[in-house]
Amino acid sequence: MSNTIKRRSLLKLFPAYIVAPTIIVSQVKVAGCTPVSGSNNGKTIFVSTWNNQSANRIATQSAKNGKNTIDAIVDGISHVESDINDMSVGKGGRPDREGDVTLDSCIMDHEGNAGGVCYMKDIEHPIQVARDVMYHTPHVLLAGDGATNFALQRGYEKINLLSTKAKIAYKEWKVKSEYKPTPNIEQHDTIGMIGIHDRKLGGGCSTSGLAYKMQGRVGDSPIIGAGLYVDGEVGACTATGMGEIMMKNLSSFLVVEFMRSGDSPAEACRKAVKRVADKIKGSKKDQQMGLIAIDKDGNVGAYSVLPGFVYAVTIDGETNVLESDSFFDVIDE
Ligand code: GLY
Repeated sequence: MSNTIKRRSLLKLFPAYIVAPTIIVSQVKVAGCTPVSGSNNGKTIFVSTWNNQSANRIATQSAKNGKNTIDAIVDGISHVESDINDMSVGKGGRPDREGDVTLDSCIMDHEGNAGGVCYMKDIEHPIQVARDVMYHTPHVLLAGDGATNFALQRGYEKINLLSTKAKIAYKEWKVKSEYKPTPNIEQHDTIGMIGIHDRKLGGGCSTSGLAYKMQGRVGDSPIIGAGLYVDGEVGACTATGMGEIMMKNLSSFLVVEFMRSGDSPAEACRKAVKRVADKIKGSKKDQQMGLIAIDKDGNVGAYSVLPGFVYAVTIDGETNVLESDSFFDVIDE
């Protein structure tokens, strides 16, 4: 069964994660779920990878307070970047093989403006710097020292990103120094958030990248089209998992293009995953890619290569954490 496309007929809810009252299933269109009735048109919606429901809630509150989609998303993602217990994003992220924490992030608005930073050290909020690159430079992507210096010039503080917990984990890893990425590690990886508010789409993502990556490695999260893509007339998509996959396939861009051709967000994600999964030879273990998408009418969908990918959906303040359908049923060798 491991090579068949899995189809769940109902949303798989995770009651332990749900803090708001359960929303009506028909309000959310997710991969493999039918039928869908009702409309999310005109609602304020934030969708994020993994169980980032607190980020969604912060974004929703910011939108309620008058912020636009992009600034609301930045507020939500900044919260995760500051969470020292999240070892995949921002401060507290796991380092590379040399013990350095390096951060990748990008952002895109409904008008097609985009900004990003990659391989950036010493700055807590790459998503905020990415927004500054978008609105205050003629460029899209700043890397390494250039990104850090730009942030310092704009008044960001220099901080030590390596937490005690991450330092201990790194020391333990050094004993064997084996590079073995684990899918769905601790149920989170990159935070990617897409959303719509006042009928304007937007998206952002942020990560410390793969734990114990080679020095200099940059993943999908700062690459427009790979980790994130937004077209204000169509929809938005963001990705999580093994960044090399999304970089080779421009998966987020592909999902938006499928939606442009008429596919629902769920179907668009499924087709982009299939494009990748059909080609996997050998072990699937390090081949996770999770995609979430939203279209301009507020329909939401998701799909992943391997099981275990969860995502948080907040519609007009009501949140659910859902598991996406996946191409493969099991994670095996
Ligand atoms: N998806 C995060 C990374 O591969 O860096």
